[in-house]
Amino acid sequence: MSILSILEPASVTTPRPTISRLATGSIPATVGSDLLVPLADGRVTDYANFDHGASAPCLESVRASVEAALPSYASVHRGNGYASRITTQWYERAREEVHAFVGARQDDQVIFTRQTTDALNLLAHAVPADATVIVFESEHHAALLPWPAERTVRLAAPSSQTDAVTKVADALRQAPDGPRLVVITGASNVTGEIFPIAEIAKVAKAHGARVCLDAAQLAPHRQVDIATLDVDWVALSGHKLYAPYGAGALIGRSDWLDAADPYLYGGGATHAVTDTTVVWATGSARHEGGSPNVIGAIALASACAAISKHRDAIEQHERSLLARLRTGLAQIDKVTTYSIFGADADRVGTVCFTVAGLTSTLVSAALSAEYGIGVRDGKFCAHPLVGHLLADSPEHGTAVRASLGLGTTREHVDRLVSAVRTLATTGPQSEYAETAHGCQPCDDPRDLKAPQIW
Ligand SMILES: Cc1ncc(COP(=O)(O)O)c(C=O)c1O
Repeated sequence: MSILSILEPASVTTPRPTISRLATGSIPATVGSDLLVPLADGRVTDYANFDHGASAPCLESVRASVEAALPSYASVHRGNGYASRITTQWYERAREEVHAFVGARQDDQVIFTRQTTDALNLLAHAVPADATVIVFESEHHAALLPWPAERTVRLAAPSSQTDAVTKVADALRQAPDGPRLVVITGASNVTGEIFPIAEIAKVAKAHGARVCLDAAQLAPHRQVDIATLDVDWVALSGHKLYAPYGAGALIGRSDWLDAADPYLYGGGATHAVTDTTVVWATGSARHEGGSPNVIGAIALASACAAISKHRDAIEQHERSLLARLRTGLAQIDKVTTYSIFGADADRVGTVCFTVAGLTSTLVSAALSAEYGIGVRDGKFCAHPLVGHLLADSPEHGTAVRASLGLGTTREHVDRLVSAVRTLATTGPQSEYAETAHGCQPCDDPRDLKAPQIW
């Protein structure tokens, strides 16, 4: 397909229906799939979103749930009015939905947090003072950094899945007595590759360790089942799960959490307070101080329900698009793709690549300005891993990440492959310069100012 034919929608100035997504009938529709974006040559095209790994678009069904909740929106666990009673039930029902979504054990807690970063920091706050934490340096910073430095063992990025299990086993063998926690990502946010979670959990359990799974990237794309994987905690983010209303969750065992000080001191986290004493709540309330983000929890639960219902279709959709994308990029000489475990490793729909002769910033700027494609470039909040992956590519300090999901169509994939091929072969059409807003075409007629919406 030529670039010109790809850009044919440029002549369309009114938003188009979400034909490609609705036609499949089996994957949930996303809000904004008819978004038109300006190009540097003055045309417009529909947006090809390859940044699902950062934040995924909202599901239509999530928006509908939120809209349904708003007329009776009220306080949670704080009022006896009709609206409060309804809203409180939704909040607790959301907890049950998230619990079921990750196959949690009956006595596992669901604590609503802001996102994965908050969930992992909450767990770090509750880790016993004498615990040893074992974590790969390949983790996202949210999973790499919250643990006490003096009691954290950082493992080098694994070279294979077997190596990952071996490294954890070796570290546990050498760990001092006392509680141990292994923190492991489900799917790398840089390469999409899936870690051998169950195998690592098995080794961890054999050494009396607990496991926290960072499912920020895995849960939107694959089933996460706490009981089957035998992990102790799962952390996830609503905004990566097509529910961008500011809620995430930490799900898992309650003992360390109940033994820890409340995460936030304040109303809701208390059982009884006098002039001199405080009896803190146990269970999820202990760490949910303050008025909760009930709309975020409803949105997250609604997304969990939709994703669970369409799990197989979602996986099929993404696997087929990913195969198409990887095959297309593999045929471009100047493109290098990066991997932790090797080309055959199972992965979610994320590809990390560089283009010889072009900086990653330039590639992402040109994809946006000339083709209406949104990707991310940089080190993706995983600096040690990106440093490791690019060690043999001295030309590049950063990479491009294309992450697909429910907002992605075949046409988007073909457009991305074609655009990268053109960039690799003939370079960008415009001149680019570094500006305060990043790399931009020198002559850029696009109006990039956000419209006033309130
Ligand atoms: C693997 C992984 N873990 C944790 C996070 C942090 O997620 P959040 O920014 O939603 O807290 C991210 C975000 O990109 C991620 O990809």
